[in-house]
Amino acid sequence: MPSPIPNIMSRSQASTRITPSILSADFARLGEEVRNVVAAGADWIHFDVMDNHYVPNLTIGPMVCSAIRPHVEVPIDVHLMVEPVDPLVPMFAQAGADYISFHPEASRHVDRTLSLIREQGCKAGLVFNPATPLSYLDYVMDKIDLVLIMSVNPGFGGQSFLPSALTKLREARARIDAWTRAGGQEILLQVDGGVKIDNIAEIRRAGADTFVAGSAIFGKPDYAGIIKSMREQIALGETLSA
Ligand code: DX5
Ligand code: ZN
Repeated sequence: MPSPIPNIMSRSQASTRITPSILSADFARLGEEVRNVVAAGADWIHFDVMDNHYVPNLTIGPMVCSAIRPHVEVPIDVHLMVEPVDPLVPMFAQAGADYISFHPEASRHVDRTLSLIREQGCKAGLVFNPATPLSYLDYVMDKIDLVLIMSVNPGFGGQSFLPSALTKLREARARIDAWTRAGGQEILLQVDGGVKIDNIAEIRRAGADTFVAGSAIFGKPDYAGIIKSMREQIALGETLSA
C-alpha cells in the first residue's frame, strides 16, 4: 500500500519552524524586537555569536542572551561561530539557551563538545559550512538534536543563498530519515543564510524543517506579514514535493 505521506516527508518533518536571526535586528531595541517578532509568529529566536576569530565579525555573547531571555518564552537557538567552543557552552546554558550549535572545525573534540552541551541541559546542534562534509555526522548521530546546514559562509547577514545547500539538505534529510527510521531520536534539519519568501518553498522541498531568516524579516515593516507568507510558501513546498 502506498504511504499516505510523500516520500521526502517523514514524521520528523511533521512540523516546521521559523527562527528569525536577531543579527539583523535593531540592537538598540533588542527586547522590543524579540517580543515583536515572537508576537508576529516566530517559533524560536536564532542568536548568532561571532568572535572575530573563527569568523571575521564580532557580535553578542551570554550577557545579551540573559538580557533577552525574560522577554520571550520561545526557545533561544544559539549559533556559536566561535573558537574554541567549550568554554562558552556552560555560559550560554546559564544564560537560558535552549539549543546550542557549533561548527565542528572549531572544536578539537566534537564528540566531547556535543556531550557537554547536553550535560548542560541544552539540545545540541552541529553546523555545516558550505564546504564542510556531512561525514562529521558519521559517529555522533546519537548525540545530535539538530543539524544546521549553512547556505552562506558564516559571518554576515544579508548574503545570497548558495544553491549547493539544496543538494546538501537532501543528503542530510536522507541521513536523518534513515537514522530515525532505525529507531534513533528526532533530529531537526535547519538551514541558515539567504532564506527569503521566494526561495523557502524550494528549501522546504529539499528537506529543511527549521528556517533561519535574518534580513528577510528584521528591518522590514511587517514581521507578521512576512512570517505568514513564509509559512504559506513552506506549505506550497510540501505540496510540490508530493
Ligand atoms: C550568518 C548567520 C545567519 C545570518 C542569516 O553567519 O549565521 O544566521 O544572520 O542572515 P540572513 O537571513 O540575512 O542571511
Ligand atoms: Zn546563524
